[in-house]
Amino acid sequence: MRDYIQFYLNGELHKINNKLISLNLSDYLRYEKNLRGTKVVCAEGDCGACTVMLGKKNHSTGKLEYQSVNSCILMVALLDGSHIVTVEGIKTEGKLNEIQKCMVENNGAQCGFCTPGFIMSLTDMFENKEEIDEKKCRNFLTGNLCRCTGYGSILDAALSVDKSKVRKLEDLYSDKALLDFLNNSKLESVEVKTDEFEFYAPNSFEKAIELKEEFPKIRIISSATDIGVQINKDRFEPHRLLSLQNIKDAYKLDIDSAFIKVGAKVSLSALEQGLEGQEEELSEFLRIFASPQIKNIGTLVGNVANGSPIGDTLPYLIVTDAIVVILGPSGERRVNFSTFYSGYKQMDLKSDELISSIEIPRLSKGEILKIYKVSRRKDLDISSVNAAFKLKLSEKNIEDIQISFGGVGPTVLRLPKLEKELIGKEFTADVFRDASHKIKNEITPMSDVRGSKEYRYLVAKNLFQRFFLEVEGSRI
Ligand SMILES: Cc1cc2nc3c(=O)[nH]c(=O)nc-3n(C[C@H](O)[C@H](O)[C@H](O)COP(=O)(O)OP(=O)(O)OC[C@H]3O[C@@H](n4cnc5c(N)ncnc54)[C@H](O)[C@@H]3O)c2cc1C
Ligand code: FES
Ligand code: FES
Repeated sequence: MRDYIQFYLNGELHKINNKLISLNLSDYLRYEKNLRGTKVVCAEGDCGACTVMLGKKNHSTGKLEYQSVNSCILMVALLDGSHIVTVEGIKTEGKLNEIQKCMVENNGAQCGFCTPGFIMSLTDMFENKEEIDEKKCRNFLTGNLCRCTGYGSILDAALSVDKSKVRKLEDLYSDKALLDFLNNSKLESVEVKTDEFEFYAPNSFEKAIELKEEFPKIRIISSATDIGVQINKDRFEPHRLLSLQNIKDAYKLDIDSAFIKVGAKVSLSALEQGLEGQEEELSEFLRIFASPQIKNIGTLVGNVANGSPIGDTLPYLIVTDAIVVILGPSGERRVNFSTFYSGYKQMDLKSDELISSIEIPRLSKGEILKIYKVSRRKDLDISSVNAAFKLKLSEKNIEDIQISFGGVGPTVLRLPKLEKELIGKEFTADVFRDASHKIKNEITPMSDVRGSKEYRYLVAKNLFQRFFLEVEGSRI
């Protein structure tokens, strides 16, 4: 058992056993380490000004990976076993590196406040992508906002980078002690206790359950892409946190012909990559989920346990009949996703339990799945309404159908009455048009800043008709 957390920062080992572990990383960098190249604007993961690179062994593949993250919502406690590289740490031989030089030469910065964040997101892209084109640049920069440049010059800078001159971080930081630390350090239990704050990161699910029994109010922190925002907005003050980050089994991602099994610490990026070429609809959908910085650490299980009625993966998990695997003092229990939520952020999870994984049945032959998200902006925005539909046709008729909407009630909803009514009906535009008018009987949307009640009724109706048109179009 260790009573401190340890991580490298720009090549130097840091060990912390005091209240600094409860700071967010951007404050630690700027005010404790005077690394003020990392900027903070929104403090809620939306603008990317605070982007840094996080290097860590991927416990599913065994490989060392460097990926971009938002330091403003990432708690220092969660850095155990990792290497943080900031904008100050990417210089090569004491000079600006190729990406930085190209930003200067292409006037990619005006006021410059967003620039370090853009440079770090581009660092992620050159670290992880072989072929670079404008679309890839745009995708890698969805988590970064600039008020001055209009983006054209930033894209020009990215596209003018000579990739052969960009050194990979594993090469830039090739010190043996650091590489041994990242690749070979075994996952140990950690407990850091201060007067105001306690942090526990056990290395087995059994120990995690013991802690949940001992401290019924202990809060699980996964990657903090939800919790970090709540803390920064004073909606949650952490006193005692439990992390599953040092449990190797929590990183398991198993995809076989029957199931996609996603462990509690599998990131949404790891899931997106694992699904490539297999479950195209979900992997495509994950492309418009949040930003690279959020997905690189944010988890599917965190999305489920957060229980937001507009959580983007929830309609998909309902229509695929996913199973929530729950561990508690009396062992494992498995809950069907359709019965997991009972109201706004109310779920079938006791105070001494945790979610260890989600198991999603693979689509069977002939099943058609579509997932939708409607938001005010295409990228990096919260859904007004989201939905998923799964359909099986036999000749001209609907053999089976599952319908789910988010953002139209206190929790994600399944529409069992409409499903039942549609089974056995002919697959025609008239049937879907009539059915779309009946959606209103099973949803209860409210008006808020993201859309009025009437708008949400209309979007739900239109999405269902769009589903028909897309399926019909693909059959021609
Ligand atoms: C800028 C930004 C963009 C975002 N975009 C999207 C988006 O497009 N779509 C979307 O749906 N969400 C989005 N989110 C929300 C968030 O990223 C997701 O909900 C993410 O999946 C949360 O995962 P996490 O690992 O960070 O969870 P955390 O924040 O660590 O935890 C979330 C909740 O789950 C609980 N929890 C975590 N793990 C467990 C467990 N194993 N057992 C029991 N409880 C657990 C925690 O106690 C907490 O209540 C966005 C967030 C930000 C900041
Ligand atoms: S400061 Fe805006 S994402 Fe961190
Ligand atoms: S250069 Fe001013 S915000 Fe981007």
